[in-house]
Amino acid sequence: MYYTNKKVEHKFVTDVFKHLGVREEDAKLAADVVVQSDVTGVNTHGLARMPMYVRRLQQKAVNPTPNIRQTNESENLIALDGDNGPGNVVGPTAINMCIEAAKKHGFAAVSIKNSNHYGVGNYYGWKFAEANLIGMTMTNSTPNVAPTGGSVSMIGTNPVTIAIPAGKHYPLVLDMATSVVAFGKIRKAAEEGKKIPLGWAVDKDGKPTEDPNEALNGSLLPIGGYKGYGLAMVIDILSAVLSQSAYGLDIGNKFDPDCTKPEKIGHFMLAIDISKFLDLNTFKKSMDEYIETMKNTEKAVGVEEIYIPGEIEFLRAEKIKETGIPVAEGIQAKMIKIAKDVGIGSDIKTIDELFDRYR
Ligand SMILES: NC(=O)c1ccc[n+]([C@@H]2O[C@H](COP(=O)([O-])OP(=O)(O)OC[C@H]3O[C@@H](n4cnc5c(N)ncnc54)[C@H](O)[C@@H]3O)[C@@H](O)[C@H]2O)c1
Repeated sequence: MYYTNKKVEHKFVTDVFKHLGVREEDAKLAADVVVQSDVTGVNTHGLARMPMYVRRLQQKAVNPTPNIRQTNESENLIALDGDNGPGNVVGPTAINMCIEAAKKHGFAAVSIKNSNHYGVGNYYGWKFAEANLIGMTMTNSTPNVAPTGGSVSMIGTNPVTIAIPAGKHYPLVLDMATSVVAFGKIRKAAEEGKKIPLGWAVDKDGKPTEDPNEALNGSLLPIGGYKGYGLAMVIDILSAVLSQSAYGLDIGNKFDPDCTKPEKIGHFMLAIDISKFLDLNTFKKSMDEYIETMKNTEKAVGVEEIYIPGEIEFLRAEKIKETGIPVAEGIQAKMIKIAKDVGIGSDIKTIDELFDRYR
Protein backbone atom coordinates (compact mmCIF):
# COMPACT_ATOMS: atom_id res chain seq x y z
CA MET A 1 0.00 0.00 0.00
CA TYR A 2 1.20 3.52 -0.81
CA TYR A 3 0.87 6.10 1.99
CA THR A 4 0.77 9.86 1.74
CA ASN A 5 0.31 12.54 4.38
CA LYS A 6 -2.20 15.28 5.10
CA LYS A 7 0.02 18.12 3.85
CA VAL A 8 0.85 16.49 0.52
CA GLU A 9 -2.74 15.42 -0.14
CA HIS A 10 -3.96 18.91 0.74
CA LYS A 11 -1.52 20.60 -1.64
CA PHE A 12 -2.37 18.16 -4.45
CA VAL A 13 -6.14 18.56 -4.07
CA THR A 14 -5.81 22.35 -3.84
CA ASP A 15 -3.74 22.35 -7.03
CA VAL A 16 -6.30 20.23 -8.88
CA PHE A 17 -9.13 22.60 -7.96
CA LYS A 18 -7.00 25.61 -8.91
CA HIS A 19 -6.28 24.06 -12.31
CA LEU A 20 -10.04 23.81 -12.77
CA GLY A 21 -10.51 27.53 -12.20
CA VAL A 22 -11.38 27.50 -8.49
CA ARG A 23 -9.94 30.48 -6.56
CA GLU A 24 -7.03 29.55 -4.29
CA GLU A 25 -8.84 30.26 -1.00
CA ASP A 26 -11.84 28.21 -2.16
CA ALA A 27 -9.61 25.40 -3.46
CA LYS A 28 -8.06 25.22 0.02
CA LEU A 29 -11.50 24.94 1.62
CA ALA A 30 -12.45 22.13 -0.77
CA ALA A 31 -9.15 20.39 0.01
CA ASP A 32 -9.85 20.70 3.76
CA VAL A 33 -13.04 18.66 3.28
CA VAL A 34 -11.50 16.05 0.97
CA VAL A 35 -8.48 15.53 3.24
CA GLN A 36 -10.63 15.36 6.38
CA SER A 37 -12.40 12.37 4.87
CA ASP A 38 -9.20 10.42 4.23
CA VAL A 39 -7.70 11.50 7.55
CA THR A 40 -10.68 9.96 9.38
CA GLY A 41 -10.62 6.81 7.27
CA VAL A 42 -13.89 7.61 5.46
CA ASN A 43 -12.09 6.87 2.21
CA THR A 44 -15.26 6.75 0.14
CA HIS A 45 -15.42 10.56 0.36
CA GLY A 46 -11.78 11.60 0.09
CA LEU A 47 -9.56 11.23 -2.98
CA ALA A 48 -12.10 8.65 -4.17
CA ARG A 49 -14.54 11.49 -4.93
CA MET A 50 -12.03 13.58 -6.89
CA PRO A 51 -12.87 12.07 -10.32
CA MET A 52 -16.51 13.13 -9.83
CA TYR A 53 -15.59 16.64 -8.64
CA VAL A 54 -13.18 17.08 -11.56
CA ARG A 55 -15.65 15.80 -14.16
CA ARG A 56 -18.46 18.02 -12.87
CA LEU A 57 -16.23 21.12 -12.98
CA GLN A 58 -14.91 20.20 -16.44
CA GLN A 59 -18.47 19.71 -17.68
CA LYS A 60 -19.37 23.17 -16.33
CA ALA A 61 -22.07 21.52 -14.24
CA VAL A 62 -20.49 23.27 -11.24
CA ASN A 63 -19.50 26.95 -11.04
CA PRO A 64 -15.80 27.25 -10.08
CA THR A 65 -16.09 30.88 -8.95
CA PRO A 66 -19.38 31.19 -7.08
CA ASN A 67 -20.63 34.37 -5.53
CA ILE A 68 -21.96 32.78 -2.31
CA ARG A 69 -24.35 35.30 -0.82
CA GLN A 70 -26.94 35.81 1.86
CA THR A 71 -30.37 36.47 0.41
CA ASN A 72 -32.26 37.57 3.54
CA GLU A 73 -31.67 40.14 6.24
CA SER A 74 -31.48 38.10 9.46
CA GLU A 75 -28.21 37.91 11.43
CA ASN A 76 -28.70 34.38 12.74
CA LEU A 77 -31.33 32.71 10.53
CA ILE A 78 -29.39 32.94 7.33
CA ALA A 79 -30.63 32.07 3.85
CA LEU A 80 -27.64 31.42 1.61
CA ASP A 81 -27.39 31.03 -2.16
CA GLY A 82 -24.40 28.84 -3.11
CA ASP A 83 -24.47 30.07 -6.73
CA ASN A 84 -23.91 26.48 -7.91
CA GLY A 85 -20.42 26.45 -6.41
CA PRO A 86 -18.60 23.30 -5.36
CA GLY A 87 -20.45 21.89 -2.32
CA ASN A 88 -17.14 21.57 -0.47
CA VAL A 89 -16.69 25.34 -0.86
CA VAL A 90 -20.31 26.32 -0.18
CA GLY A 91 -20.58 23.99 2.87
CA PRO A 92 -17.46 25.30 4.67
CA THR A 93 -18.48 28.90 3.90
CA ALA A 94 -21.92 28.22 5.37
CA ILE A 95 -20.64 26.54 8.52
CA ASN A 96 -18.25 29.42 9.20
CA MET A 97 -21.20 31.81 9.03
CA CYS A 98 -23.31 29.49 11.20
CA ILE A 99 -20.61 29.25 13.89
CA GLU A 100 -19.97 33.00 13.92
CA ALA A 101 -23.68 33.79 14.18
CA ALA A 102 -24.26 31.19 16.92
CA LYS A 103 -21.37 32.61 18.96
CA LYS A 104 -22.91 36.06 18.67
CA HIS A 105 -26.60 35.24 19.11
CA GLY A 106 -26.58 31.92 21.01
CA PHE A 107 -28.39 30.12 18.20
CA ALA A 108 -28.04 30.15 14.44
CA ALA A 109 -29.39 28.25 11.46
CA VAL A 110 -28.35 28.43 7.83
CA SER A 111 -30.53 27.27 4.94
CA ILE A 112 -28.45 26.81 1.79
CA LYS A 113 -29.63 26.50 -1.79
CA ASN A 114 -27.93 26.06 -5.16
CA SER A 115 -25.18 23.79 -3.91
CA ASN A 116 -23.50 20.53 -4.82
CA HIS A 117 -22.08 17.47 -3.00
CA TYR A 118 -20.61 18.84 0.24
CA GLY A 119 -18.48 15.84 1.16
CA VAL A 120 -17.88 14.05 4.42
CA GLY A 121 -20.22 15.08 7.25
CA ASN A 122 -17.63 14.77 10.00
CA TYR A 123 -15.74 17.80 8.59
CA TYR A 124 -18.72 19.88 9.72
CA GLY A 125 -19.21 17.92 12.96
CA TRP A 126 -15.60 18.45 14.03
CA LYS A 127 -15.89 22.18 13.30
CA PHE A 128 -18.99 22.59 15.46
CA ALA A 129 -17.38 20.66 18.31
CA GLU A 130 -14.11 22.64 18.08
CA ALA A 131 -16.19 25.80 18.41
CA ASN A 132 -17.82 24.38 21.59
CA LEU A 133 -21.23 24.36 19.93
CA ILE A 134 -23.87 21.70 19.59
CA GLY A 135 -24.24 21.56 15.85
CA MET A 136 -26.23 19.76 13.24
CA THR A 137 -25.86 19.68 9.48
CA MET A 138 -27.68 17.77 6.78
CA THR A 139 -27.88 17.64 3.01
CA ASN A 140 -30.06 16.12 0.37
CA SER A 141 -28.41 14.27 -2.49
CA THR A 142 -28.87 12.46 -5.81
CA PRO A 143 -31.79 10.03 -5.38
CA ASN A 144 -31.05 6.34 -5.01
CA VAL A 145 -33.48 5.37 -2.24
CA ALA A 146 -37.13 4.54 -2.94
CA PRO A 147 -39.84 5.83 -0.62
CA THR A 148 -41.19 2.99 1.56
CA GLY A 149 -43.68 1.16 -0.65
CA GLY A 150 -42.30 2.78 -3.81
CA SER A 151 -40.15 1.33 -6.59
CA VAL A 152 -38.50 4.50 -7.96
CA SER A 153 -35.43 6.13 -6.36
CA MET A 154 -36.63 9.53 -5.18
CA ILE A 155 -34.53 10.30 -2.09
CA GLY A 156 -30.77 10.52 -1.65
CA THR A 157 -28.65 8.80 0.95
CA ASN A 158 -29.33 12.11 2.77
CA PRO A 159 -26.77 12.18 5.59
CA VAL A 160 -27.17 13.99 8.90
CA THR A 161 -24.32 14.92 11.23
CA ILE A 162 -24.82 15.91 14.87
CA ALA A 163 -21.91 17.08 17.01
CA ILE A 164 -21.83 17.54 20.79
CA PRO A 165 -18.63 18.61 22.56
CA ALA A 166 -17.23 16.76 25.57
CA GLY A 167 -14.38 17.46 28.00
CA LYS A 168 -11.57 14.92 28.14
CA HIS A 169 -13.37 12.55 25.80
CA TYR A 170 -13.78 12.98 22.05
CA PRO A 171 -16.90 14.90 21.14
CA LEU A 172 -19.88 12.87 20.07
CA VAL A 173 -20.09 13.18 16.28
CA LEU A 174 -22.91 11.10 14.86
CA ASP A 175 -22.36 11.26 11.11
CA MET A 176 -24.55 8.92 9.10
CA ALA A 177 -26.23 8.37 5.80
CA THR A 178 -29.89 7.39 6.01
CA SER A 179 -29.59 4.45 3.62
CA VAL A 180 -28.54 1.02 4.91
CA VAL A 181 -25.46 0.98 2.66
CA ALA A 182 -23.90 3.12 -0.01
CA PHE A 183 -24.41 2.22 -3.68
CA GLY A 184 -20.65 1.51 -3.88
CA LYS A 185 -21.10 -1.60 -1.74
CA ILE A 186 -23.70 -2.98 -4.17
CA ARG A 187 -21.44 -2.24 -7.16
CA LYS A 188 -18.58 -4.05 -5.41
CA ALA A 189 -20.74 -7.14 -4.73
CA ALA A 190 -21.82 -7.19 -8.39
CA GLU A 191 -18.19 -7.00 -9.56
CA GLU A 192 -17.20 -9.80 -7.21
CA GLY A 193 -20.22 -11.94 -8.18
CA LYS A 194 -21.43 -12.02 -4.55
CA LYS A 195 -24.97 -11.89 -3.19
CA ILE A 196 -26.06 -8.95 -1.06
CA PRO A 197 -27.95 -9.40 2.23
CA LEU A 198 -31.72 -8.99 2.11
CA GLY A 199 -32.59 -5.57 3.50
CA TRP A 200 -29.99 -3.60 1.55
CA ALA A 201 -31.95 -2.93 -1.63
CA VAL A 202 -35.00 -3.60 -3.79
CA ASP A 203 -35.21 -4.43 -7.51
CA LYS A 204 -36.85 -2.22 -10.13
CA ASP A 205 -40.30 -3.48 -9.09
CA GLY A 206 -39.64 -2.60 -5.46
CA LYS A 207 -39.19 -6.26 -4.42
CA PRO A 208 -36.45 -7.15 -1.89
CA THR A 209 -33.45 -8.68 -3.64
CA GLU A 210 -30.18 -10.47 -2.86
CA ASP A 211 -28.94 -10.00 -6.44
CA PRO A 212 -26.65 -6.96 -6.69
CA ASN A 213 -27.34 -6.59 -10.43
CA GLU A 214 -31.08 -6.39 -9.78
CA ALA A 215 -30.33 -3.90 -6.99
CA LEU A 216 -28.25 -1.73 -9.32
CA ASN A 217 -31.36 -1.28 -11.46
CA GLY A 218 -33.47 -0.74 -8.37
CA SER A 219 -33.07 1.30 -5.20
CA LEU A 220 -31.30 1.27 -1.87
CA LEU A 221 -33.36 0.81 1.28
CA PRO A 222 -33.46 3.39 4.07
CA ILE A 223 -32.16 2.50 7.56
CA GLY A 224 -34.84 1.11 9.88
CA GLY A 225 -37.55 0.74 7.23
CA TYR A 226 -40.23 3.41 7.20
CA LYS A 227 -38.56 5.21 10.14
CA GLY A 228 -35.41 5.83 8.10
CA TYR A 229 -37.59 6.82 5.16
CA GLY A 230 -39.28 9.40 7.39
CA LEU A 231 -35.95 10.72 8.62
CA ALA A 232 -34.54 10.94 5.08
CA MET A 233 -37.67 12.83 4.06
CA VAL A 234 -37.28 15.35 6.90
CA ILE A 235 -33.67 15.87 5.74
CA ASP A 236 -34.92 16.36 2.17
CA ILE A 237 -37.45 18.94 3.36
CA LEU A 238 -35.12 20.91 5.68
CA SER A 239 -32.34 20.84 3.06
CA ALA A 240 -34.35 21.39 -0.10
CA VAL A 241 -37.92 22.56 0.50
CA LEU A 242 -36.93 25.17 3.09
CA SER A 243 -34.14 26.51 0.85
CA GLN A 244 -36.12 26.09 -2.41
CA SER A 245 -33.57 23.65 -3.84
CA ALA A 246 -34.10 20.64 -6.09
CA TYR A 247 -35.18 17.26 -4.75
CA GLY A 248 -36.06 13.91 -6.29
CA LEU A 249 -35.72 13.64 -10.04
CA ASP A 250 -35.02 17.40 -10.43
CA ILE A 251 -31.53 16.95 -8.96
CA GLY A 252 -28.71 16.91 -11.53
CA ASN A 253 -27.38 13.34 -11.29
CA LYS A 254 -23.71 13.60 -10.33
CA PHE A 255 -23.25 9.84 -10.87
CA ASP A 256 -24.30 10.04 -14.53
CA PRO A 257 -21.16 10.85 -16.57
CA ASP A 258 -23.29 12.52 -19.26
CA CYS A 259 -25.33 14.72 -16.92
CA THR A 260 -24.27 18.34 -17.09
CA LYS A 261 -27.20 19.62 -15.06
CA PRO A 262 -26.28 21.32 -11.74
CA GLU A 263 -27.29 19.27 -8.73
CA LYS A 264 -29.09 22.29 -7.23
CA ILE A 265 -29.22 20.53 -3.86
CA GLY A 266 -29.58 22.19 -0.47
CA HIS A 267 -28.13 21.89 3.01
CA PHE A 268 -29.35 22.88 6.45
CA MET A 269 -27.14 23.70 9.43
CA LEU A 270 -27.89 24.79 12.95
CA ALA A 271 -25.75 25.57 15.96
CA ILE A 272 -26.49 26.13 19.64
CA ASP A 273 -24.11 27.90 22.04
CA ILE A 274 -24.13 25.66 25.13
CA SER A 275 -22.79 28.44 27.34
CA LYS A 276 -26.08 30.32 26.94
CA PHE A 277 -27.82 27.45 28.81
CA LEU A 278 -25.19 26.58 31.39
CA ASP A 279 -21.51 26.90 32.18
CA LEU A 280 -19.61 25.23 29.32
CA ASN A 281 -17.22 23.31 31.59
CA THR A 282 -20.12 21.97 33.67
CA PHE A 283 -21.71 20.68 30.46
CA LYS A 284 -18.45 19.14 29.25
CA LYS A 285 -17.91 17.42 32.61
CA SER A 286 -21.46 16.02 32.45
CA MET A 287 -20.81 14.85 28.89
CA ASP A 288 -17.69 13.02 30.08
CA GLU A 289 -19.73 11.34 32.81
CA TYR A 290 -22.43 10.46 30.30
CA ILE A 291 -19.91 8.96 27.88
CA GLU A 292 -18.22 6.98 30.67
CA THR A 293 -21.60 5.65 31.86
CA MET A 294 -22.23 4.25 28.40
CA LYS A 295 -18.72 2.99 27.76
CA ASN A 296 -18.41 1.30 31.13
CA THR A 297 -21.58 -0.79 30.94
CA GLU A 298 -21.21 -4.52 30.60
CA LYS A 299 -20.22 -5.55 27.08
CA ALA A 300 -21.91 -8.17 24.97
CA VAL A 301 -20.12 -11.50 24.58
CA GLY A 302 -17.06 -11.13 22.34
CA VAL A 303 -17.13 -7.31 22.35
CA GLU A 304 -14.02 -5.51 23.58
CA GLU A 305 -15.15 -1.89 23.48
CA ILE A 306 -18.34 0.15 23.44
CA TYR A 307 -17.89 3.15 21.14
CA ILE A 308 -19.49 6.56 21.14
CA PRO A 309 -20.62 7.87 17.71
CA GLY A 310 -17.64 9.52 16.03
CA GLU A 311 -15.08 7.85 18.28
CA ILE A 312 -14.04 5.34 15.62
CA GLU A 313 -13.20 8.20 13.22
CA PHE A 314 -11.22 10.09 15.93
CA LEU A 315 -9.27 6.90 16.69
CA ARG A 316 -8.63 6.30 12.99
CA ALA A 317 -7.37 9.86 12.67
CA GLU A 318 -4.88 9.24 15.51
CA LYS A 319 -3.66 6.09 13.77
CA ILE A 320 -3.45 7.73 10.36
CA LYS A 321 -1.30 10.49 11.90
CA GLU A 322 1.30 7.76 12.50
CA THR A 323 0.83 5.54 9.46
CA GLY A 324 -0.01 8.18 6.86
CA ILE A 325 -3.03 8.12 4.57
CA PRO A 326 -3.35 4.91 2.57
CA VAL A 327 -3.91 5.42 -1.18
CA ALA A 328 -5.25 2.28 -2.84
CA GLU A 329 -3.91 1.30 -6.27
CA GLY A 330 -7.14 2.11 -8.05
CA ILE A 331 -7.13 5.60 -6.53
CA GLN A 332 -3.46 6.15 -7.47
CA ALA A 333 -4.26 5.52 -11.15
CA LYS A 334 -7.22 7.90 -10.95
CA MET A 335 -5.09 10.68 -9.39
CA ILE A 336 -2.44 10.28 -12.14
CA LYS A 337 -5.20 10.53 -14.76
CA ILE A 338 -6.60 13.66 -13.07
CA ALA A 339 -3.11 15.25 -13.02
CA LYS A 340 -2.89 14.66 -16.77
CA ASP A 341 -6.45 15.78 -17.49
CA VAL A 342 -6.25 19.07 -15.61
CA GLY A 343 -2.78 19.94 -16.91
CA ILE A 344 -0.62 19.34 -13.84
CA GLY A 345 1.69 17.07 -15.82
CA SER A 346 1.33 14.83 -18.86
CA ASP A 347 4.50 12.80 -18.18
CA ILE A 348 3.61 11.59 -14.66
CA LYS A 349 3.68 7.82 -14.42
CA THR A 350 3.63 6.96 -10.74
CA ILE A 351 1.94 8.30 -7.64
CA ASP A 352 5.41 8.93 -6.16
CA GLU A 353 6.31 11.17 -9.08
CA LEU A 354 3.00 13.01 -8.71
CA PHE A 355 2.98 13.47 -4.93
CA ASP A 356 6.72 14.29 -4.79
CA ARG A 357 5.78 17.59 -6.43
CA TYR A 358 3.83 18.51 -3.31
CA ARG A 359 6.34 17.60 -0.59
N1 LIG B 1 -22.39 14.43 1.08
C1 LIG B 1 -23.21 13.45 0.82
O1 LIG B 1 -24.07 13.56 -0.02
C2 LIG B 1 -23.11 12.15 1.58
C3 LIG B 1 -24.06 11.15 1.37
C4 LIG B 1 -23.99 9.99 2.11
C5 LIG B 1 -22.97 9.81 3.02
N2 LIG B 1 -22.06 10.80 3.20
C6 LIG B 1 -20.97 10.62 4.18
O2 LIG B 1 -20.49 9.30 4.11
C7 LIG B 1 -19.91 8.96 5.35
C8 LIG B 1 -20.24 7.54 5.71
O3 LIG B 1 -21.62 7.43 6.13
P1 LIG B 1 -22.14 6.06 6.76
O4 LIG B 1 -23.56 6.19 7.13
O5 LIG B 1 -21.73 4.93 5.87
O6 LIG B 1 -21.23 6.00 8.08
P2 LIG B 1 -20.97 4.78 9.06
O7 LIG B 1 -22.08 3.79 8.99
O8 LIG B 1 -19.58 4.30 8.86
O9 LIG B 1 -21.02 5.50 10.50
C9 LIG B 1 -22.18 6.16 10.93
C10 LIG B 1 -21.99 6.67 12.35
O10 LIG B 1 -21.97 5.57 13.24
C11 LIG B 1 -20.84 5.65 14.10
N3 LIG B 1 -20.43 4.29 14.44
C12 LIG B 1 -19.92 3.35 13.62
N4 LIG B 1 -19.70 2.22 14.29
C13 LIG B 1 -20.09 2.46 15.57
C14 LIG B 1 -20.10 1.66 16.78
N5 LIG B 1 -19.68 0.41 16.81
N6 LIG B 1 -20.56 2.24 17.90
C15 LIG B 1 -21.00 3.52 17.91
N7 LIG B 1 -21.00 4.32 16.82
C16 LIG B 1 -20.56 3.77 15.67
C17 LIG B 1 -19.81 6.41 13.32
O11 LIG B 1 -18.85 7.01 14.21
C18 LIG B 1 -20.68 7.41 12.60
O12 LIG B 1 -20.92 8.51 13.43
C19 LIG B 1 -20.37 10.03 6.33
O13 LIG B 1 -19.28 10.90 6.57
C20 LIG B 1 -21.44 10.80 5.60
O14 LIG B 1 -21.50 12.16 5.95
C21 LIG B 1 -22.10 11.96 2.51
